[in-house]
Amino acid sequence: MEHGEYRPPEKRRKRRCAIFSVVAVLLIIFILVIVLALTYRQNTEKLKPTFIARCEEFKGYDCEKIWSAFEQAYVGQDPCNVSMGAYDPLIAAAPFRPACNRMMFWSKTKKVVHDFTEKRDCFLTLEDTLLGSVLDGLTWCGKEGSSKTFTTGCPGWTDCNNNPVRSFWNRASAAFADVACGDVTAMLNGSIITPFSPTSIFASIEVKRFNSTRMRSLNVVLVTQESTVTNCTNASLKDLQKELDEGIKYNCKEVAESQIQECSSNPEKPCGACW
Ligand SMILES: *[C@@H]1O[C@H](CO)[C@@H](O)[C@H](O)[C@H]1NC(C)=O
Ligand SMILES: *[C@@H]1O[C@H](CO)[C@@H](O)[C@H](O)[C@H]1NC(C)=O
Ligand SMILES: *[C@@H]1O[C@H](CO)[C@@H](O)[C@H](O)[C@H]1NC(C)=O
Ligand SMILES: *[C@@H]1O[C@H](CO)[C@@H](O)[C@H](O)[C@H]1NC(C)=O
Ligand SMILES: *[C@@H]1O[C@H](CO)[C@@H](O)[C@H](O)[C@H]1NC(C)=O
Repeated sequence: MEHGEYRPPEKRRKRRCAIFSVVAVLLIIFILVIVLALTYRQNTEKLKPTFIARCEEFKGYDCEKIWSAFEQAYVGQDPCNVSMGAYDPLIAAAPFRPACNRMMFWSKTKKVVHDFTEKRDCFLTLEDTLLGSVLDGLTWCGKEGSSKTFTTGCPGWTDCNNNPVRSFWNRASAAFADVACGDVTAMLNGSIITPFSPTSIFASIEVKRFNSTRMRSLNVVLVTQESTVTNCTNASLKDLQKELDEGIKYNCKEVAESQIQECSSNPEKPCGACW
């Protein structure tokens, strides 16, 4: 006892227990650090594989080349200062092809439109094209002084106007509208007060690009639900009609969402007969 050489068993057990606790806590911290590091790495490196895999579903494109054209738009840039023009090389690398009489635009009806275009091959939205489908639902940005792509900590849609995601969709929408030809369809939302909202991409970018040398008509499908508040006589739709190039015929039709859904799940029905 005097030299501290003998410890009663319960004291030894307590000491061993304390050492074990410290080791366990250290181990837990270590595992947490590893998991966080891996998650972070996955977050920053997830975009390219997704991009390439989605791109490869379209045959006849050099997806690595398209990725490079994409990356140069925002890598190393201030994520609040990426212009629409930064994506010009990307659009040139995977140009939109006109799909006359099948092109579908939409505003505030994303879900019902895509349910429809996924199940029926009648219409083509921007999100069904190579560039649109490759980047649909993704977030990305660069940072000054870095050659990496980030998918977290990026500015949100409304945080700043010139963020890489918003500028991409603006640029791609413009390019898609530039090739709009023949009879063009637009699905707008009848459950909101202003179905043709001046701040939407459809109003602020796409409609302005519609050109009567290529386009014969714009056919608005105003999707109605139980909560419908407006109809084809709404003043915002009159504004839409006025905005159109003279020579583009304008039509508007109110169509129940249930009718569109029924048509989606009924592949025998000819496309034109859906509304
Ligand atoms: C934004 O980027 C452009 C060129 O990419 C540059 O000339 C301009 O100075 C930048 N603006 C700011 C505020 O950083
Ligand atoms: C129209 O907009 C409302 C409100 O944002 C939404 O709840 C509804 O699902 C939209 N309708 C369609 C057909 O997408
Ligand atoms: C439509 O296209 C023609 C020929 O490309 C062009 O001269 C004209 O300015 C365009 N109109 C609009 C409204 O963009
Ligand atoms: C359209 O809605 C207005 C009110 O917003 C109503 O007065 C008008 O009767 C409606 N027209 C049709 C054809 O339902
Ligand atoms: C129709 O459009 C006008 C102007 O664009 C808007 O202010 C109005 O509230 C709209 N909706 C209805 C239900 O009248």
